[in-house]
Amino acid sequence: MFKNIFICLMVCMFSAVMVSAAENNCMTCHADFEDDDGPSHLISKDVHIQKGLGCVDCHGGDPSLDDMDDVRDSKGYKGVPDYKDVPKFCASCHSNPVYMHDHNPSLPTDQFDKYKTSIHGIQLL
Ligand code: HEC
Ligand code: HEC
Ligand code: HEC
Repeated sequence: MFKNIFICLMVCMFSAVMVSAAENNCMTCHADFEDDDGPSHLISKDVHIQKGLGCVDCHGGDPSLDDMDDVRDSKGYKGVPDYKDVPKFCASCHSNPVYMHDHNPSLPTDQFDKYKTSIHGIQLL
């Protein structure tokens, strides 16, 4: 029993290392050319990165590539949303109860519905 848990832990740790190593291509390259106000610097204070999400979770693209043109052509690359589409962009995760529950069951998933009926939502959307 304990042996199984141990093996499971090792596999989890190994995959975590793999993910962060792959993620580094987005992060390292961006950090290299951006000044301190660039996304890869600012994002270190962001709740998503602190909770283990990466650039790819929001922007998509293949983190193993080392050229931005290839990243743009790679599967799932979403780029940057138009500012008017940002609430919908956030809601693609935050309004998905199954996805959110896997990460943090205590968070509500009705923010976007509420936002749409608020004065901000009515003005923007
Ligand atoms: C080899 C360097 C490099 C890597 C690796 C890289 N980027 Fe970029 N990225 C850039 C540069 C440079 C720009 C600025 C636009 C330009 O001039 O091409 C950029 C622009 C962007 C933009 C702005 C929108 C756009 O399409 O121009 C986003 C979003 C982005 N990168 C996300 C990512 C993500 C996510 C990854 C990993 C999957 C990644 N980048 C990997 C260099 C890189
Ligand atoms: C929680 C989701 C999220 C994560 C994680 C995230 N981004 Fe973004 N990113 C966004 C959104 C939303 C915008 C558009 C912001 C706006 O319109 O002002 C954006 C904008 C950008 C831009 C364009 C900035 C500009 O001035 O036009 C770049 C480049 C970028 N992100 C790169 C990255 C990189 C590199 C990472 C990882 C270090 C990352 N992002 C992580 C959501 C995210
Ligand atoms: C790729 C999916 C994804 C996207 C896109 C996304 N988020 Fe999140 N967000 C999460 C997850 C997952 C958590 C919970 C992390 C945890 O607690 O483990 C979270 C947590 C948060 C929290 C902290 C909530 C709390 O009380 O702990 C805020 C605030 C937040 N997100 C705002 C935003 C905003 C604003 C946007 C759009 C700019 C956005 N998110 C886009 C996945 C996402």
